[in-house]
Order: sequence, then C-alpha cells, then structure tokens
Amino acid sequence: MADLFDKIATDTVLQQARMGREMGVYPYFKPLSETEGTEVVIDGKRLIMIGSNNYLGLTTHPRVRQAAIEAIQKYGTSCTGSRFLNGSLELHKELERRLAKFMGKEAAIVFSTGYQSNLGAITALMDKNDVAICDKDVHASLVDAVMMSGCQMKRWRHNDMADLERILKETQAARCMVIVDGVYSMGGDLAKVPEIVALCKQYGARFFLDDAHGLGVMGPGGRGTSIHFNMVDDVDLIMGTFSKSFASLGGVIAGNKDVIDFIQHHARSFIFSASMPAANAAAVLACLDIIEEDPSYVVQVHKQAAKVRTALRAMGYNCGDSVTPVVPVLTGSEMNTIFAWKAFYDHGVYVNPVVPPGVPPNKSLLRTSYMATHTDEQIERVIKAFYEVGTYIGLIEDKEPVTA
Ligand SMILES: Cc1ncc(COP(=O)(O)O)c(C=O)c1O
Repeated sequence: MADLFDKIATDTVLQQARMGREMGVYPYFKPLSETEGTEVVIDGKRLIMIGSNNYLGLTTHPRVRQAAIEAIQKYGTSCTGSRFLNGSLELHKELERRLAKFMGKEAAIVFSTGYQSNLGAITALMDKNDVAICDKDVHASLVDAVMMSGCQMKRWRHNDMADLERILKETQAARCMVIVDGVYSMGGDLAKVPEIVALCKQYGARFFLDDAHGLGVMGPGGRGTSIHFNMVDDVDLIMGTFSKSFASLGGVIAGNKDVIDFIQHHARSFIFSASMPAANAAAVLACLDIIEEDPSYVVQVHKQAAKVRTALRAMGYNCGDSVTPVVPVLTGSEMNTIFAWKAFYDHGVYVNPVVPPGVPPNKSLLRTSYMATHTDEQIERVIKAFYEVGTYIGLIEDKEPVTA
C-alpha cells in the first residue's frame, strides 16, 4: 500500500515555502511580539500595520479590554461545551438580542467563529436538492460550506449581473440561494445589493450576504452593507464576524425568527462545537456600546482609507474598485508580490501579500486595510512608503505623492 505521507515530499506549496524561507522572503506565520493595533513589532522591528481587519481599532480600547477581563472574572475562561447543552450563557443571549437589533433583523444566533457561522447556516439550510449560486469571489468559508452541504454550486462572474441572471434563469425550477460577500475581502468593493435583490425577487431565490468586512464599517453607525443600501428587509440572511471590527472572535447569522430557530436546531458547527468564551462575547458587547455611543469610529476609518486610496491612485497604483477600508494594490505576478511585500517590510510597513489560490493566477495583490485609529502621521508615512518603495522597485513611475 502507498504511504499517505508520500505526497509531502513532492508538494509544490511546501517546496515554495521552503525556498522562500531560505531566501528570506517568506511572508507567512510571522509572530508579533507586540501589538498596539496600528503598530506591531516583528523580529524586533516596529512596523505600521496596514494588514489587519481591526477596522475600528477597538482591540486595544480600554473599555473592550475591561469588559473581557470582567467577563473572565465572572464566568471563567471557557464554556466547556456547546450552546446546545451546557455552553449557553445569559451573555450569549444578550449578545444575540443586541446584534439582531443592530443588524435590523428579527433574530440572531452567535457561533464560535465566522467560518463556523457560514458552515452552520448553509449546511443546515441546503442539501443535495438545492442550488447555491455564488459570486466567483466569495470567501473560502462559503465555498466550503456549500461543498459540505452537498448541494449543487453554480458560480457567476464577480459582480456581473447579466451572468447572475443567466444562471438564475437556467436554475429557475430549483430551490436556490444567491450567496455574496457584502464587502469583498480582497477587492474592497461592494456587492451590487439592489440589483441582486431585484433578481432574487424576480426568480424566487433566497439571498445570503456575508458581511464579515461590512459589519461595523458600512452603513450609518456601521450597521452593515444591507443597511448601507437601505435594503435590510430584502436580504434573507446576514452573516457577520467578530474577528474584524468587533475586536473579538466569533460570528453571527441574523434573519427571520423561524429561520434562525431552524438553524439553531440543525447547524452542526453550532451544536457540535463549544460556544464562544464569555470574554469574547463581552468584548463584542463593549464594541457595540462604543460604536453606538460614538459614530466617529466608523466615519474615521473611511476617511483614513480614502486618503490612502486617493494618493495611491494619483501615484499610478491600481486599487481596483475599492470603496471601503480594504484597499488592494494590484501587483500581478506572484514573484512581484512577494518581493514587494519584502520591500515594504524592510521599509517598516506591514502589508499582506495575496497570491494564488487566494486570487487567480497573475492577479496577485498587496492587501492593505486601514483603521479608525491610524493617526494622520501614520497615514502620511504609509503614503510616503508607497512612493519610495514603489519607485524603487518599479511598481510605479516616479510621481510625487499628493497627500490630503
Ligand atoms: C468574507 C469572510 N467571511 C468569513 C470569514 C471567516 O471569519 P472568521 O475569521 O471570523 O472565522 C472571513 C475571515 O477572513 C471573511 O473574510
């Protein structure tokens, strides 16, 4: 019998990783020894962080820290069980009530991660008789969820309404759900919610929106992408994570009361996994308090991102269709991207290199993202770094940066 582990010796991903390590250009799994949100220390070197999802900068907010500490003091460090049995706290129920209200839906259910939220909701609702119609750029957790549900998956070209309609037409007889990201995690562009709603209504499809990068950021008060489009009642299910704007870990699905009750009784990633610890739930509640009291965090994150996006475009960078705090810089080949990452790293700026399979071949990019707590001075340094590094390694021609 062949040995299962034989594949390891010939695995190209691993070979490339080892080559990268030997050449000193391996960008992954870098441990941070310090992080205060907008700046981090890696290998003893201080860098400006423009690669996190900490959009509102709340991971280090004193009230969020204090809420987590108090929750640990009151409830301990773990729930040691599933929500289904011994792992439900009053705090989870309170969080579900608060999130349902915040997201404009009747009910909400919280999971231990965003990934599990997508897995749980989709596998609970869909089976081999159903069809999931997914935008080509949806997050991997949605693709995994659809595959695990056993339903048929059809993909439409990213944000191409004619292609979506073509698929809906051919799928008309089946029970189906259109699945999108509200804010695309790599492109920083938005789903065309009004057009998608119209098509779902016309063809009788349900609509699922993963708002991992929209909740806390988009819409008035950061209440999400469907509220940004004033269409919350027209989106059947909205998913959010706590690992981004909400400075914690966990996820949520919000929707109609009966659908949430159904998910609660069928979602295997909810039933067969321990619930989120009290500290995580308390941190999210504190974030909700903060952004409900002070809308300036949501305003500020867009302001800082817009400054960088405008400056980068003026310098000749291609930032795609970004209109959110996620600002990609298209670099093309894998090699260009890894070397660009290293040049920014050496220059004191942390960016995320995104290469296949995260993006299609030759569509690699540097994913940059901005925080409400980035200071104006940090933003100026980032723009200057894009000018200096970009002209030095030939990402752009020499055009002086114009800053706001
Ligand atoms: C669009 C999207 N959905 C779901 C997830 C999964 O969320 P989490 O990391 O909180 O499990 C992510 C995380 O990167 C994401 O970007």
